[in-house]
Amino acid sequence: MLKVEREIPIRIGPTENLFLRGVFAPTAREITADNLEVEGEIPRDLCGIYLRNGPNPIFQPRDRYHWFDGDGMIHAIEFREGRATYRNRWINTEGFRAEQQAQRAIWPGLMDKPDPHVPRGAGSDGWLKDTANTDLVFHNGYALALWYQCGMPYKIEARTLETLGIETFRGALKRTVSAHAKVDPVTGELLFFDYSTKPPWMTYTVVSASGELKHHIPIELPGPRLPHDMAFTQHYSVLMDLPLFWDPELLARGIHKVSYFPDLPSRFAIVPRYGEAGEVRWFETSPSYIYHVVNAWEDGDEIVMDACRVVGPEPKSARGEGELARMRAFLRLEAELYRWRFNLATGAAREERLDDQRTEWPTIHRGKMGRRTRYTYNSLVPHFEGVVKYDLERNSSERFLFGPGRAANECPFAPRLGASDEDDGYLVAFVSDANGGDQGEVIILNAKDIAAGPIGRVKIPQRVPVGFHTLWIPGEQLPA
Ligand SMILES: [Fe+2]
Repeated sequence: MLKVEREIPIRIGPTENLFLRGVFAPTAREITADNLEVEGEIPRDLCGIYLRNGPNPIFQPRDRYHWFDGDGMIHAIEFREGRATYRNRWINTEGFRAEQQAQRAIWPGLMDKPDPHVPRGAGSDGWLKDTANTDLVFHNGYALALWYQCGMPYKIEARTLETLGIETFRGALKRTVSAHAKVDPVTGELLFFDYSTKPPWMTYTVVSASGELKHHIPIELPGPRLPHDMAFTQHYSVLMDLPLFWDPELLARGIHKVSYFPDLPSRFAIVPRYGEAGEVRWFETSPSYIYHVVNAWEDGDEIVMDACRVVGPEPKSARGEGELARMRAFLRLEAELYRWRFNLATGAAREERLDDQRTEWPTIHRGKMGRRTRYTYNSLVPHFEGVVKYDLERNSSERFLFGPGRAANECPFAPRLGASDEDDGYLVAFVSDANGGDQGEVIILNAKDIAAGPIGRVKIPQRVPVGFHTLWIPGEQLPA
């Protein structure tokens, strides 16, 4: 059964902008659909909710729309006893509500010039709309929707996708939250950093499992930085100072231009979970940029961190190649899997390439995060045409390609009910099809044998635009 919950007409005229067309085009309806049709089967031991965040703009952009600008919308599919229910809802942020009231786009986009005449917005310079469109974490019984430029965490009821408002941790939130906050699956603590063009350039925060802000420190940096992700282990957090950031000379003149500084090292801060600013240990390796971390753990004196290291992060390579290339240059996701080792006894740091396939958007068994893991599931980049499963103990990989014109950018791991092995479960993914159609699809892969292809293809009764990060919430963690 399909129920249209709300329809908001998309007021965007004809456009050549790739990020508003085809698989990127926004959807106007919020629906709930249960008993979804399936080709193959939905395993009865697949129980939980798969949520995916992403942009879904409504109004004619003021100038040049970028993919990162659109209002956040969550698409979710709940699996229970062999059946599936789909929902999608906009995230009702303050910016979303203001623009609904005004019935037009208020804030400029990422590619636009700042406008001092609009109400104070968000982001590094305060002119953007905080859309909460980037990632999701599950903490203290609720999903939190997060934004790539550091924004307010929006609290979402995971089953209904209702936006409950900004989570301030009982009024204690002092700054913002970066896109990739982490939840320790053992303690339930929420760990995050944020960055700013105003000092302190970075801060680090720990919130308890019950939502009490327990720890908040500044992280000393040479200047404003733009890290995207962090890592944690049982006792430490890993924060990053990477040589891709706003050109400081231009920034001093109010111009935000991201530049790569290959003469500077990559620096990694190892912070005891409740450490003070003076306890931070820094480690240096070769210059690089990292969007997404796979996982980190402790191994004797060493902190081990696996992540996707960008191949050639220089934004300049897109110069002169047209507007689309410049937009894509903001998202240079061509990366290879690397391992870093930071030795707390000797102070030495090592980095090692684990594979030469270009992959990104890694996912792991979230219940093992912060502890040694063997498997990671990464998307092939830059076209997201398939998923690669890495076995990092055997140093091997297998892959599944989605098929011509089909793509999915992040495939979270869903442990099977009663699972014991780390890869005993499923990968789920919204797959978009460039060949069009009014339907969406979620595929279910057996994580132990992804090359065998989907065991289930669940039909979604509307098109699901491509989006950003995902979250799997195991059924046993959901409120009754
Ligand atoms: Fe990200």
